[in-house]
Amino acid sequence: MEPRTPKPPEAAQPPNGRGPSRKTVLKAAVAAAPAALLLGAAAPALAREQAARSKPLAPTPACDDGDDPTPPQMEGPYFKPDSPERTDLVEPGTPGTPLTLSGYVFGVGCEPLGNVLLDFWQADPGGEYDNVGYGFRGHQYTAENGAFELTTLVPGLYPGRTRHLHVKVQAPGEEILTTQLYFPGEPRNETDPLYDPALLMSVQQDGEGQVAAFDFVLAVSGA
Ligand SMILES: [Fe+2]
Repeated sequence: MEPRTPKPPEAAQPPNGRGPSRKTVLKAAVAAAPAALLLGAAAPALAREQAARSKPLAPTPACDDGDDPTPPQMEGPYFKPDSPERTDLVEPGTPGTPLTLSGYVFGVGCEPLGNVLLDFWQADPGGEYDNVGYGFRGHQYTAENGAFELTTLVPGLYPGRTRHLHVKVQAPGEEILTTQLYFPGEPRNETDPLYDPALLMSVQQDGEGQVAAFDFVLAVSGA
């Protein structure tokens, strides 16, 4: 990860009122779309639904406070600094299952955080890390409304671990959160001691690919 120059905090956009908690909405969205509709049309659940249909994200995510910060996890042995800045990690012609991950980064006060560094790295579809070059490695920054989107392929399995993505998340001038994201329905989730359901993405099948969503909550205030 390249060093970054602290910048003044982005102007935080006020949350869209006090709706149902984000977790509640996300769970409802996963369980049943009609329930999400009943819970509130401005909630990020609808952004999730829209993302799944490849429609534009809502300009400002709704949120509610009371969420715990996203838990950290070990970096593991395969992180490399200085990844290229890019949102698409797929080299043309690489076989695998397309995966699009989108979401938002929030502070603990539920404010969306812009200009947050997200540095992703993962195994390739064959379960190998590129430790020579920068295959399946890349960093990007959230938009002013906290949104990010990653285009990649579903990582392969390798011995001892369930399926996962690695990521480092850093708001301007703040501590780095190092963590991992997991896929639902993976048999090895039951046996991987690192697996944490709090780091589970919501994943939907989209044609031959997968569309995933995850929102990070950083232990910072964007105010
Ligand atoms: Fe890994």
